Parts: sequence; C-alpha cells; structure tokens
Amino acid sequence: MQARNGSIEILDLRHFAAPVLRPLLDAESEIWAERLHWDYRASSRLLMQYLDNRMLPGYAAMEAGNVTGYVFCVYEETKAVIGDVFALPGVPDSGNAASGPAHAREEMLLRHLFELLLNSPHVDRIESQLLLHPSGRFAPAFRAAGFGVYRRLFLVQPLAGRSSQLHMDLPANLEFRPWREADLAPAARLICEAYRDHPDSSINDQYRTVHGSMRFLNNIVRYAGCGTFVTQASYVVEERASHELAALVLGSRVSEQSGHLTQVCVLPAYRRRGLARFLLHQAAFSFMRLGAAEISLTVTEANTDAIQLYQGEGYQCAHSFDAAVWHRASTA
Ligand SMILES: CC(C)(COP(=O)(O)OP(=O)(O)OC[C@H]1O[C@@H](n2cnc3c(N)ncnc32)[C@H](O)[C@@H]1OP(=O)(O)O)[C@@H](O)C(=O)NCCC(=O)NCCS
Repeated sequence: MQARNGSIEILDLRHFAAPVLRPLLDAESEIWAERLHWDYRASSRLLMQYLDNRMLPGYAAMEAGNVTGYVFCVYEETKAVIGDVFALPGVPDSGNAASGPAHAREEMLLRHLFELLLNSPHVDRIESQLLLHPSGRFAPAFRAAGFGVYRRLFLVQPLAGRSSQLHMDLPANLEFRPWREADLAPAARLICEAYRDHPDSSINDQYRTVHGSMRFLNNIVRYAGCGTFVTQASYVVEERASHELAALVLGSRVSEQSGHLTQVCVLPAYRRRGLARFLLHQAAFSFMRLGAAEISLTVTEANTDAIQLYQGEGYQCAHSFDAAVWHRASTA
C-alpha cells in the first residue's frame, strides 16, 4: 500500500530493513531518555530484529528518500496492540509544538494504521498506550476513529534520602518473601482477582482472565516486555495455608538510574491493612541498594485509590499519556 500526502509517502513498514530506521530509532531513544529516564535501546534492538524479519505490521513515512516516521502494531490472537508511533521532530510550523510537523506525520501514520485495523475482520479489539506522547496529543484522532481514551499518569519517586526499611507485623497466616519463578501461575490468579471490575481491565483486557494475566506476566518477567525484570526488587505476600498470593509488587530496570514498578496489587480481602505500602517500601529499598536513583510507575487517572497510595509515598506526576481502546461492536 502506498499513499501520498504532499511530499510524504506512507509505505508498508515491511518494505524496510532495520538499518533504514536506525537514525529514527536513535532519535526516539534520546527522547525516551530525556523525558522518562528510560533506556529505549533494548526495545529498539528488538524492533530492529522484527524489522529485519519483515514481520512488523505498520507503516513508515518517507520524505526525500528518508524514513522520517513509523508506526507499528502487534497481534495477540484477535486483538491488535498499537506499540508505538514516532516521527522525527521537524521545525515547528507554529509556536505550538503539538501542531508541528512531527505531530502531523505521527497522526497521519496512526490514521493509516486505524484504517488497516478497522478493516481487518479478524481484529475485534485494538489497544494502545503511547507512553512517550503527552496526554491529549492524539486523543482527537483516536476518538474520531471510535476509540475510548483514558488518561494515565507517569509517577516518579526519588530514592535519595530513603535510608530505612519499613517494618510490618504481618498476620500469622501470611508470609512475605522474594518473588520466585514458580509464582507465575498464582500471580496470574491474583491479578485476575485484584482487577475484577477495575478501570485498568477496560484498558488492558489481559487482566480479565487468568490466561491473559499469565500472558502479561510472561511478557514482563520472561521477555523483558517492560524493561528488564529485577527478581531482587519483586516481592510477594503468600497465604501460608493455601499457597495462593495475597499481594505482590514487581520491579523492572528501565535504565541505570530508574527502576519501574510494572505491577502492584492486593487481593480485595486483604486491602487497607498496609500491604501495598509495605511492598512499595521493600521494592524502593531494593532498588536503592541496586544503585537506582528513582522509581517510576504508571497509573490510570481514574484509579484514585492507588493514586492516594502513591502520593502518600512521595510519588509525583512527571508526565501524562493516553491509553486508547476500540472494540468491534457485536453484530449479533
Ligand atoms: C491500590 C491497592 C494496591 C492498595 O492496596 P492496599 O494494600 O489496600 O493499600 P494500603 O493498605 O497499603 O494503603 C496505603 C494507603 O493508600 C491509600 N489507599 C489505599 N487504598 C485506598 C482506598 N481504597 N481509598 C482511599 N485511599 C486508599 C491510603 O492512603 C492508605 O493509607 P491508610 O489506609 O492509612 O489511609 C489495592 O487497592 C489494589 O490492589 N487495587 C487493584 C489493583 C491496582 O489498582 N493496583 C495499582 C495499579 S497502578
């Protein structure tokens, strides 16, 4: 497929091998580092492998023989996840950076992908969390295509000055211990239970089933889907009798300076007893010992319980972005 708009051509991403996109991915990595303190190079390397195998669905923007932007998605059964959109910043044509050339190209790329996915009968759901891009940037384009848009926050807690671990007397039926690989299946059951009727289950449908939660966990723990998983900063609270999990926190390293919490949750029956606060302290202490200067996490703006928890722990909002979800209306 080929489309022209002024001097820009939008082409199937699978025409391009990795070296052609390298300058673009390098420029994007710089913005990830600057804005989110996130080392994007590992993700870039993975993307380049997919590009070289010509298996990444998406589009590239071509101008004067150079690739100046890209968008891609991945398929998970009948769902498509829009992974990223990025265009090289040009010289803004107005004082408003959001209406500058990069934004216009990114929106054009997104619209092409919407058209492809909305017209793919096997795709019944599309999810997207464009973490790098400030909230509101693509909201009108997503809404115009029929997506629901949910604002999410990127919170950061500096670790400097945190010197002591929090002590907690757990009830006798619970045991606190480090994460281990065998926790994957009970953790999937905990996530599914903790996110029942929760706003985040509207954004990420993996949370709605144990199978989906297992997929989420495998991606985080085994396949470095969100930074590099750090076993030493991941903890669980286990019910001694049943060996089921009552609570967990999972940590990943996203750069030398930053740890990132990819999951914090507590079973409804054990809430408001300080378990989440305790787990956050343990993870923070571990990241500090591993040499990180800060911890980040993302939270949906509507998740006010969790926001209260994080604010109480000194997390501050450093950035906001949008999650967007579309699902095919049932014809039955
Ligand atoms: C958010 C969540 C992890 C909190 O777990 P928890 O163990 O109940 O939290 P804690 O008992 O440690 O609470 C610590 C503080 O957080 C705040 N807080 C926690 N839950 C709250 C609620 N329901 N309403 C208001 N404030 C709340 C309070 O300030 C609380 O301190 P206090 O009890 O002394 O007033 C839990 O509700 C949960 O698993 N929710 C579903 C999954 C989720 O949203 N995870 C976070 C995704 S970003």
